[in-house]
Formats: sequence, C-alpha cells, structure tokens
Amino acid sequence: MVKAVVAGASGGIGQPLSLLLKSCQQVDELALYDVVNTPGVAADLSHISTPAIVTGYLPGDDGLKKALTGADIVVIPAGIPRKPNMTRDDLFKINAGIVQGLIEGVAQHCPKAYILVISNPVNSTVPIAAEVLKRAGVFDPKRLFGVTTLDVVRAETFVASIVGEKVPTKNTIPVIGGHSGETIVPLFSQAKPSVSIPSDKLDALVNRVQFGGDEVVKAKDGGGSATLSMAYAGFRFAEKVIKAVKGEKGLVEPSFMYLPGISGGDSIVKATGLEFFSVPIELGPNGAEKAIDVVSSANDHEKKLLEACYAALKGNISKGVEFVQNPP
Ligand code: NAI
Repeated sequence: MVKAVVAGASGGIGQPLSLLLKSCQQVDELALYDVVNTPGVAADLSHISTPAIVTGYLPGDDGLKKALTGADIVVIPAGIPRKPNMTRDDLFKINAGIVQGLIEGVAQHCPKAYILVISNPVNSTVPIAAEVLKRAGVFDPKRLFGVTTLDVVRAETFVASIVGEKVPTKNTIPVIGGHSGETIVPLFSQAKPSVSIPSDKLDALVNRVQFGGDEVVKAKDGGGSATLSMAYAGFRFAEKVIKAVKGEKGLVEPSFMYLPGISGGDSIVKATGLEFFSVPIELGPNGAEKAIDVVSSANDHEKKLLEACYAALKGNISKGVEFVQNPP
C-alpha cells in the first residue's frame, strides 16, 4: 500500500501533480494538503476511476497531521513562485518558513516518509529540510530529495531540438549541481547514447538549460513559473521512487541531496567541497542507494561551469542551514 501526500496541492504545480499521482496505479491513497481549496481539488479528483482514495485537508482541525500520518511519500510544491525579474533566491523569505513548517510536520507525523522538495529555492530549502530533520533526530539522507528533474527534462528536450531527434527522451543527460541559473550544470559529454553538439551551439544550449525557467516566467507574464512541465517532472521522479521502493531495479535520476551518508557520496563531497549537491542517484528499496560520481569525468568546458556552480551553491546552502540554526 502506498500513501502519497502533496503539500501545496491546490497550486499551479500541486493540481496537475495530484492529477498525475491519482492516475498512477501504484498509489493507493492520495492526501492533498494546502492552506486553501483542498476540499474542492480532492472532490474533483475523487471522481476519476483509478484506485487511489483521495482526501483533502486544510490547516484547521489537525489537517496537516491527518494528511501526513501514514504517508510513504510526501511531495512538497508549497510556496510562492517567481514573477518576472525575480530570481529563485528572492523566494527565500516566504518559502523558507513554509518548508520549515511542513518538514516539522513530516518529522513528527511520518518521519520515515520519502520527502521530495520542489519548493524554491531548492538549493536552500533542501538544506533547511535536512536541518529540521536533524534537529528532530529523524534525518535519513537517503530519503530527502531535492527535485531537479525539470532541468533534466529540459536538457533532454533542448538537446533533441539541436541534434534533430524526434524523440527527446532517447538521451540520458546528467544535469548536476543545484537548481538555479549557473548552479545548473548539464554534462552533455556524458549523454547516453552520446550526442554530437556543434561547438558554436554548445554555449547557447547550456545557457538555455540553466535559464530555461525564465522563458516560462516571461511568457506567463506575471502568472507564475513552470507548473505543467514541473508537474510532469515531479511525477516522473515520484514514480521512480515509488517503483524503486517496491523493488524495481536500475532506476536512476539526478537529485539534490545531502551526500554524506549516501554510498558513493563522500568522494563527490571531496571533489566539490559541498555536502549538498545534485548527481545521478541510483534508487532502491531504501531510497537513494548510490550517488554516481559524474563530476570527476567532466570535460574541461564542464569543469569551468562547475567552478561557477560551486561558488554560488555554497552561499545558497549556508543560507538554508543558517535559517534554521540562527532563526531571523
Ligand atoms: P502556486 O502559488 O501556484 O502554488 C503554491 C501553493 O502552495 C498554493 O496553493 C498555496 O496556497 C500553497 N501554500 C502556501 N503556503 C502553504 C503552506 N504553509 N502549506 C501548504 N501549502 C501552502 O505556486 P506553483 O507555481 O505551484 O509553485 C510552487 C513552488 O514550486 C514555488 O516555490 C516554485 O518556485 C517552485 N518550483 C520549483 C521547480 C523545481 O524545478 N523544483 C520548478 C517550478 C516551480
């Protein structure tokens, strides 16, 4: 039996993500939590003829506790999205507290659940989550995932348009580092099968993967950031976690994680100087089974991108840790 929870379920990402989870045959129970509108979203989804039983909760009447109790997987897209001219870091002020509060709930009501953090800035909200779980004495690095799948999905799509492939999902492209601007580092040299990108197109392609989110923010013109592509990406990651926990082998997807404590993580921490970093993660029955070192095989061009990534990511991580250790 799998109980999945979406926290922030009434939002732009939350609703289509909840729809995808309701469509998933592997989910038996789907609990929707938000500060608004969950009764309506839950009633709507509950008419779909798939097995998952859908419930909706608001903060009153122990709503968070009821939503989280018994959860196996908690997906968190709660918080405000970007408007034009905002960076993901601008969201910190509001979203840091929202994520902290939700993770405190997880620590109390479902400490063994797999936690997927979508709320931005992921580079800081995942360290916040880790810190809250550590303080509660329930932190398991193998179960806390920062969702960076949208960067991978974008890399797959954009590279296909350059090399003229009709099916974007043909290539596996490791996208590593963090989840904002220059901290996003696609390693096209390690695409499988390999891709040949004309050298005059490489910089623009890398830039598009790093700043692809801005295209959506601009096009939505004040209406928010990526929601539908993010729901697709969030579901793709959640489904892999669910399948791996149920015993399926060979499931790998990059994720922004606390690498000490994950097999293979120490050498990556040594190479990057960062404890939180996104690399391809082999998923298994206990969550993250192995962190795959793709850093050491990056080519010279990618190593330069990584240097810029390390510098920016370091500050983002400390900001999250600091938020919990020395509250503002
Ligand atoms: P949205 O504003 O449409 O929805 C957010 C939802 O969170 C709202 O329904 C709101 O009521 C709810 N919420 C606020 N405080 C809450 C709380 N304390 N508990 C539960 N729910 C709460 O925003 P959208 O577009 O769905 O984006 C959500 C987040 O996801 C943003 O932080 C955005 O930046 C981030 N995001 C992350 C991506 C990634 O790749 N990881 C990609 C795109 C967006």
